[in-house]
Order: sequence, then structure tokens, then C-alpha cells
Amino acid sequence: MNLVVVGTQWGDEGKGKLVDLLSEKADIIVRYQGGHNAGHTVALGEKTIVLHLVPTGVLHPGKIGVIGNGVVIDPEALLSEIATLSSHGISVSGRLFISEMAHLIMPYHRAIDKASEHAKGSQKIGTTGRGIGPAYADKIARIGIRVIDLFDDALFRQKLESNLAEINIFLREVYQVEEFNSDAIYKEYVGYRDQIKPYVADTSVMIHSAIGQNRDILFEGAQGTHLDVDMGTYPFVTSSNATAGGACTGTGVGPTQIDEVLGVTKAYTTRVGQGPFPAELTEAMGESLRQKGGEFGATTGRARRCGWFDAVLVRYAVRVNGLTSLAVTKIDILDGMPDLYICDGYEYEGKIIKEMPSSLGVLQGCAPHLVRFPGWMEKTASVRTYKELPKNAKDYLDAISSAVGCRIDLISTGYRRADTIVLRNPFG
Ligand code: IMP
Repeated sequence: MNLVVVGTQWGDEGKGKLVDLLSEKADIIVRYQGGHNAGHTVALGEKTIVLHLVPTGVLHPGKIGVIGNGVVIDPEALLSEIATLSSHGISVSGRLFISEMAHLIMPYHRAIDKASEHAKGSQKIGTTGRGIGPAYADKIARIGIRVIDLFDDALFRQKLESNLAEINIFLREVYQVEEFNSDAIYKEYVGYRDQIKPYVADTSVMIHSAIGQNRDILFEGAQGTHLDVDMGTYPFVTSSNATAGGACTGTGVGPTQIDEVLGVTKAYTTRVGQGPFPAELTEAMGESLRQKGGEFGATTGRARRCGWFDAVLVRYAVRVNGLTSLAVTKIDILDGMPDLYICDGYEYEGKIIKEMPSSLGVLQGCAPHLVRFPGWMEKTASVRTYKELPKNAKDYLDAISSAVGCRIDLISTGYRRADTIVLRNPFG
């Protein structure tokens, strides 16, 4: 059974916790896109750990983690994450594999990311500054350096030198920032090469052979549908395919092999970084959600923008990912709020729009069309069975499910693995 888990909003939906929980039944957990811009927060006993690049599932002893070809890898970040895991007593040796076809993030990618954001001024995207966009830009421009290239010394040197010949001019003349020295990068990356060597594999072959043996595979999406470079609120997006299709191109597995797609959605909406957000709450209510929900970025620590649940966003995610079910997280954050609202459409120039507009200008001009729901004063925090949920919470969840047209399989009521109501486990 092969399951893809994706975010339905702008990332930070709580995929880390869900993937961690579902990994109990999976044999292999695969990341397929993004890089260390992601931040998946997972409870480890009473502590929490934030993973950026390594698949969350490796926190379970014996599970295999794969970083697919669609991911961009900063080797320094990867090695430091492996070291952090080891300091928590978790060894990934022999059970973490990285695709030899994955592209590398180079130091100049980080410099371009930062300089480009700076140059954009008020038009900036609000990237994580990790070099993600420029690394994917090189991949598409066919000048990217892949993991496998590190093992062909002459090719690696030649690619590095020819890339730097252009990039240094650009950095110096356009951005007026420091240039890079190819010898220094060469030495640094050769050092990484020797350390990552044990993890490098032809992961597409590995996954196919596991599928042939009927093993259970979980494809762990990073970011969210509306940050997808094709399907998201372009250009305020990340540079990869965070939607379910990315699980195929980012791992070398065909679409006929995917059995189910689970969409993770928060019971309200958040966004980090710039870009349109029609259901955003900018005043006291937004601040209250931010404080109660601890809505601060797991990667950059930035305050997340908060808003009501936006059914237009999630309905779109149901469609473009072909979602088979939903997991709703952080329902407990809404405990004690007398009035709740769901945005079921956008008001634009006197009309109600029910579908996401493709034009950013139109989206920016949309006001939320809100429907009120009575809240609940009881606690849902740590509730572990559906029947214990207050009636109004059940009604609110039913309203989400019918507004977006997708059934709910899981409801998360806290950060611990056990704080989850499992109506149906997609792994059976
Ligand atoms: P980049 O991925 O660093 O290029 O950033 C592009 C946009 O995606 C920015 O708005 C980031 O804040 C956002 N972003 C990237 N990764 C994540 C994530 O894991 N969660 C939420 N937002 C993200």
C-alpha cells in the first residue's frame, strides 16, 4: 500500500506529527520535494525535535528513510541533522538513503536567494533563505550539480567552474555581493561527499523492489498545495511540486503505484512569508490564534499569519491532489472560542467566487465570505475518541468535510502521537 501525505494549505499543517504517527505502519518513508526549508516538528517523548530534510519516519526504530531525486540537498544541513539525531540516540546508519539523482544546494545558491530577496524589497517572497529557489532554477536550467556528480571528480570540477564563471559575474555586477572561490567549494564538497557516501543509492530501484515485495510506503510531502510552484499562489510559492504529483516525479515511481492521498489541514489557516491570504485575521483574533497555536515557523522562527479555515483553498487541494481523505489538525486550538467562521467563498467585485482565482491580482482583491459556527467551551485537547468530542466540534468538522468535499480520517487534538482520533487508518 502506497500513501502520499500532502499539505492542503500553505505548509505547517502538522504533517510531521501525522507522518510520524502513520509511519508506525509504513516500512519506508520517502521525501520527494523541497529541501531544508521544511520544518517538521515531532514529539519525541516529552521533548520535541524539528526535522528539515530527513524523513520524519526515521524516528521509528528500524524504519527506512529515503530522500528522493526531487529533493534539493544541502549536504552540510543533512550531515548536521544526522548528527542531531545521533545526539538524541537515533542512528540512521543503514536505514537512510539519498537519491544519487538529487540536486545539491551550493553555497552560491544561498547567496543568490538572499541577494535576490533583498533586491526585491517590498516585492520579496519571504523565502527561508536556504538557497532552495536558486538550486531548483539551476536544475531546470540544466546546470545543476547532482549527488552523483560528486563521485566524478573531473565532471564535478568542470561543472563547478563553469557555473561559477557566470554566477560570480552576476553576484559581483548585479547584486554587488562577494564572489565564490571554486577551489574552496570543491574542497568543502569533497569533504561532504566522503561523509554522505554510505547513504547514496539508486533509490528509485530500491522503492520499486520494495513495492514488488508489497511493503508499505509513505511519501511525505513538504510545504503545502498553495506553495506548489505550479498549483500555488505563484510567485509566492516555493520552487518545487509539493502536490501529490511531485511524489511520482520526485521519486521515480509511476502514478499507477499510488493507492491513496491523505491531505493534512489545520482547523484554521496559517501562512508564513508574503503573498495573498483572503481569510487572514490581522487584528486581535489573529494574534490570539498565533499565541494559542504557537504559530511561529519551525525553520525560521517567523510569526505565522493566521486566519479562519478557508474551504476554497482546501477544496482546491482536494481536486488537484486527488485527495482520498483528510486529517484535520489543531482542533484543540479552537477550544473556548465562542464564534468560529469558515470561509466558503470569496467576494470579488460584488460576486461570490467559489474556486481559487488564478490571477494573483484578483486573489489579492478578494474578501472572505464567512459562515458562522458556534464554538465549544469544552476541551478537545488530548481527546482520543470521536464520541468524546463536543457536539459543536463534531458539527464544525462535518462542515469542513462537506465544504471541501472530502471525508475526514484523522483528527489531531495535541502534539503527542497519542493525541489523535483515528476514524480510519489509511494504511488499514
Ligand atoms: P523557499 O521555499 O525558501 O524558497 O520559500 C518560498 C516560500 O515558501 C516562502 O513564503 C516560505 O515562507 C515558504 N515556505 C517554504 N518552506 C515552508 C514550509 O515548510 N512551511 C511553510 N512555508 C514554507
